[in-house]
Amino acid sequence: MRILVVGGGGREHALVWKLAQSPTVTDIIAAPGNAGIAELARCLPVAADDVEGLVRLASEESCDLTVIGPEIPLTMGIANRFADEGLAVFGPSKSAARLEGSKWFAKKLMLRAGIPTARAWATTSRDEALSHVRELGAPVVIKADGLAAGKGVMIAASEDEALAAIDAVLTEGRFGAAGSRVLVEEYLEGEEASILAFTDGRRIASLVPSQDHKRARDGDRGPNTGGMGAYAPAPVVDKRMLADIECDVLTAAVRTLAEEYGTEYRGVLYAGLMITDDGPKVLEFNCRFGDPETQVVLPLLDGDLAELMMSVATGELDPSSFRVTDESAACVVMASGGYPGAYEKGKPISGLAVAGVMEGVVVFHAGTAGSNGATVTAGGRVLGITGIGPTLPDALDRAYAGVTAISFDGAHYRTDIAHRALEKAGNTKAGGRDDV
Ligand code: AMP
Ligand code: GLY
Repeated sequence: MRILVVGGGGREHALVWKLAQSPTVTDIIAAPGNAGIAELARCLPVAADDVEGLVRLASEESCDLTVIGPEIPLTMGIANRFADEGLAVFGPSKSAARLEGSKWFAKKLMLRAGIPTARAWATTSRDEALSHVRELGAPVVIKADGLAAGKGVMIAASEDEALAAIDAVLTEGRFGAAGSRVLVEEYLEGEEASILAFTDGRRIASLVPSQDHKRARDGDRGPNTGGMGAYAPAPVVDKRMLADIECDVLTAAVRTLAEEYGTEYRGVLYAGLMITDDGPKVLEFNCRFGDPETQVVLPLLDGDLAELMMSVATGELDPSSFRVTDESAACVVMASGGYPGAYEKGKPISGLAVAGVMEGVVVFHAGTAGSNGATVTAGGRVLGITGIGPTLPDALDRAYAGVTAISFDGAHYRTDIAHRALEKAGNTKAGGRDDV
């Protein structure tokens, strides 16, 4: 099989890494890829949102399957364009991708399907939004309806903060078209978890539950980021809860999309959940793999990813065609100094070769580029160092051993990845490590 992978972050490096292990894969092309992906695939400079350019590339290169990493091309309808051309694609259609593209669409579907989620209202009126804020009381969550690069969710601690957030969305237009409508949502308390599942629109096969770390600094402090690390399995979701989530959330969403909206969802469906005292409730759906969750869930997948993705694309998913291993994985993101704010690029990275041969360590590149034979930083999240081992502490030791071998000017990372799982297990390193 010749495969095209669209995107160029840590998630796409993990996808390419796993696809490269498949005996049926002969060739991988990435568009645009990054310096790490370039070691496993031919990288071509076509942007991830250049839908027509990607359709042309897949036909010219006779690709058997194209895997879409990021959400933007999916919400633009790239899967429909591939289908029009008779090209196989892994990723949902434009109408199915509305689950991520419009938070209000997702909320309405959840209400119709009886999927547990926070109460919410959507409006284009500032006054109406404010009256819902008063009704719910603070803390309250204000969300821009559309895609806002992960920045469209604001947790307001007071009514004044809520009003400022509503103005940012509706009046100041800070989120562009994504902010033509605002959601006022009930604040949920609990622990978060990410469930990623393959689905061909009828059957569901979930990967191991994982947990992301969105805040920049240890102790879940500092600004929100795209994700500073992840681990799997996340013990907050046990086997029984996972079975319930598969049935009450994932199957319910896919079935409702098919029956009520006439749309078959094919690809990976990501449910971002809050595990509350009343059970799991959906915070958001994503129509793609998570980043950095992918860097921990794919190493625990025992099966042929290329065949699995092809079976999803052709509507023939067999959930028994893969299993998840009983190992653990942890990923520590090394970010540029200043991220998620302004940062400099072009810093040389050292130690990649040393970390790359450590047992149970995989170095996934995110924002990197090649420059005169060296690898330099080229983005906010630079690398994701994944450790894999028989237990979570082993996986973490390996990930952090990899991190300490690598350096670049200004690098920062969290030292407390998986602290919630470690706290549950009574582990003394839960508050952060002093060996890194
Ligand atoms: P989302 O993009 O919808 O996942 O929101 C980003 C982050 O905001 C989530 O990972 C949560 O940490 C937080 N969040 C979103 N919705 C809520 C909610 N209803 N209650 C509490 N936290 C929330
Ligand atoms: N890690 C969060 C996301 O991929 O949306």
